[in-house]
Amino acid sequence: MNTRKTLYINKEGHLTIGGCDCLTLAKEFGTPLYVFDEDYLRGMMRTYRDTIATEYGDGLVLYASKAFSCEAMYAIAKQEGIGADVVSGGELYTAMKAGFPAEKICLHGNNKLPQEIGYALDCGVGLFAIDNPAEADLLDGECAKRGTVQDVLLRINPGVEAHTHKFVQTATPDSKFGFSVQSGAAEEMTRHILAKKHLRLRGFHCHIGSQIFEKNSFCIAAEKCLAFMADMKKTLGFRADCLNLGGGFGIWYTDEDEKFTFEGYAAYLRALIGAVKEGCKKYGLDLPKLMIEPGRSIVGEAGITLYTVGAIKEIKGIRKYVAVDGGMFDNPRFCLYGSKYTAVLAGRADEQPTELVSVAGKCCESGDLIGVDLNLPAARTGDILAVLSTGAYNYSMASNYNRNLIPPAVLVKDGKAEYIVKPQSYEDLVRNDVLPERLK
Ligand SMILES: Cc1ncc(COP(=O)(O)O)c(C=O)c1O
Repeated sequence: MNTRKTLYINKEGHLTIGGCDCLTLAKEFGTPLYVFDEDYLRGMMRTYRDTIATEYGDGLVLYASKAFSCEAMYAIAKQEGIGADVVSGGELYTAMKAGFPAEKICLHGNNKLPQEIGYALDCGVGLFAIDNPAEADLLDGECAKRGTVQDVLLRINPGVEAHTHKFVQTATPDSKFGFSVQSGAAEEMTRHILAKKHLRLRGFHCHIGSQIFEKNSFCIAAEKCLAFMADMKKTLGFRADCLNLGGGFGIWYTDEDEKFTFEGYAAYLRALIGAVKEGCKKYGLDLPKLMIEPGRSIVGEAGITLYTVGAIKEIKGIRKYVAVDGGMFDNPRFCLYGSKYTAVLAGRADEQPTELVSVAGKCCESGDLIGVDLNLPAARTGDILAVLSTGAYNYSMASNYNRNLIPPAVLVKDGKAEYIVKPQSYEDLVRNDVLPERLK
């Protein structure tokens, strides 16, 4: 386990998060339940914010809200004085509902819809990260109608391979995201945007992947972006004053991953800042405004999911399945990426693991697993199982598959727990169903 001040095993051997005993949480709120540790996620936001402020100067942390989006998250990000990255009209709407300052939002998306572009302009979003020529044309036209000029970044692809799962790599030459520096597409798009009267190109964005521990790939990506900035200054006379290096910092899921403290993440960011400063010196550039977009590392380890163990099935000599009351509908990451997790029995968290089991969900799908080969003490029906590091890309990718209810989420702090996402009801499931008269 990657324990911390707000996630530990108490004297009774119970898993405790944000001062709350997980057994008590399960009893009070039911399971499955997402639990978010407020101190941890604020601590991560502050770590990034303060490191940029003290080690770099002009910069902005944008919480990548695709990792976990709900009104409370935007409210916390606002209180911590950071920005947000949104990638759809829905995420933007949620941020607006929470009173988030639009000027601190960057809108992403490889295929932003016309209505999303219009809505973002109505909201006054600070930055658009442009990812195709038609988007630039459409945005320019919309701004012309409104008599405004919109600040934009261009998403480029520096062609850096991040050491992570191939499905979450985004900066290899074959990617639906960004424009390749190497092929000349990035320069062509820079020219395309610079020719637009109603777009003000501020600089470049790149995101090289996710769950990356290897600092060097970030540093190389930063260096390549700065080289491109220098090139654009020389060939087009364009002086970029913003550089957004995306997100992707890795987190602990199992003991195969590094364990970082807040200081560890600060050191990670310092290495990246060092590379930016060095690159600027090398290419004779002024320091640009530096942006980063961490999602997973802010909210991933802050979250855990509590389940109740149900059926236990042992297939002799093959595998033991421990089934829980959740599954791919609350956590599709194993199905999508074969992701690995650490689980503990919340009421017997101090017991030594004695067996390797697969944690199965309750969906009608063989691949519906939370994880395989998890180390656990012998689980019994009724035990509360806590799966750790589920804060990122779980709730945000949840579905109502098999018409299961998406679990609620609670925010815990100093021994108090409050809903930040209410439980769904069966009524919610049929809310948008329509039964034509002739079928009645
Ligand atoms: C453009 C962009 N920024 C930021 C992120 C957040 O990455 P992470 O959650 O790994 O920090 C992503 C994730 O896919 C992304 O695509």
